[in-house]
Amino acid sequence: MSYSEISNIYNEDCLITLGRELEYDYVFFSPPEYSEMGLEPLKDDKKYFGWMEEVYSKFNPRKNIVTIVISDRRFKRKTIPKHQYCTDIMKNLGYDLLNQKIWEKSREINMFRYNYAFVMSYARKSFKSKNTKLFKYDTWFHPHHSYKGYSYNMPQEVAERCIGNYTEEGDIVYDPFMGIGTTALACKKLNRKYLGSEIDSETFEMGMNRINQSTIGSIEKWS
Ligand SMILES: C[S@@+](CC[C@H](N)C(=O)[O-])C[C@H]1O[C@@H](n2cnc3c(N)ncnc32)[C@H](O)[C@@H]1O
Repeated sequence: MSYSEISNIYNEDCLITLGRELEYDYVFFSPPEYSEMGLEPLKDDKKYFGWMEEVYSKFNPRKNIVTIVISDRRFKRKTIPKHQYCTDIMKNLGYDLLNQKIWEKSREINMFRYNYAFVMSYARKSFKSKNTKLFKYDTWFHPHHSYKGYSYNMPQEVAERCIGNYTEEGDIVYDPFMGIGTTALACKKLNRKYLGSEIDSETFEMGMNRINQSTIGSIEKWS
């Protein structure tokens, strides 16, 4: 059976996909930034985080684990601790924070954006973690590179470290914000299945082309 037969990305709002009552084992994603949703930091925070809570409340992974990759936001000389709000939301939904890794994106000075993101894994009820060597490191350095003008993506290695730790071969990973398909590529490489949603048609097409053209690379060793 080919990947296209067992894995799928829906070009639609993730709230619609989540209403399809699909089955999946683990949720892994990076949520959209304010600007991707036409919102302004601080002014629209209630709407932004209220929407996040609505989406997160609909997750139902069989393995009870969700990983969120998110950067805090610098704005008008302040910091909006988005990662902290995510943990508050997840706590309200009955999830405990299992661990918090730092993905370092670059070592250059950037006055406008943080050069690192939090990789936060949450669980409720019973759960299993393999505690793989690659996952155990607390800080991960993987330089960020845009892809054909799309800059909201993450390196595949970040997805691989998490998916490799929390799932087994053949498991299904759901990414509600699939972007250009990084989660799908990691699944393909690690022999997992994927389900995803991507609302923007151009981004969706770019992702589908990227997935279809990809070949499975060798398993690398990082530190
Ligand atoms: C931070 S990016 C994810 C990038 C992805 N992890 C990658 O590496 O390509 C967030 C994506 O969510 C999409 N998005 C925004 N709102 C959405 C929604 N309601 N449902 C599904 N996708 C949405 C955006 O178009 C954007 O491509």
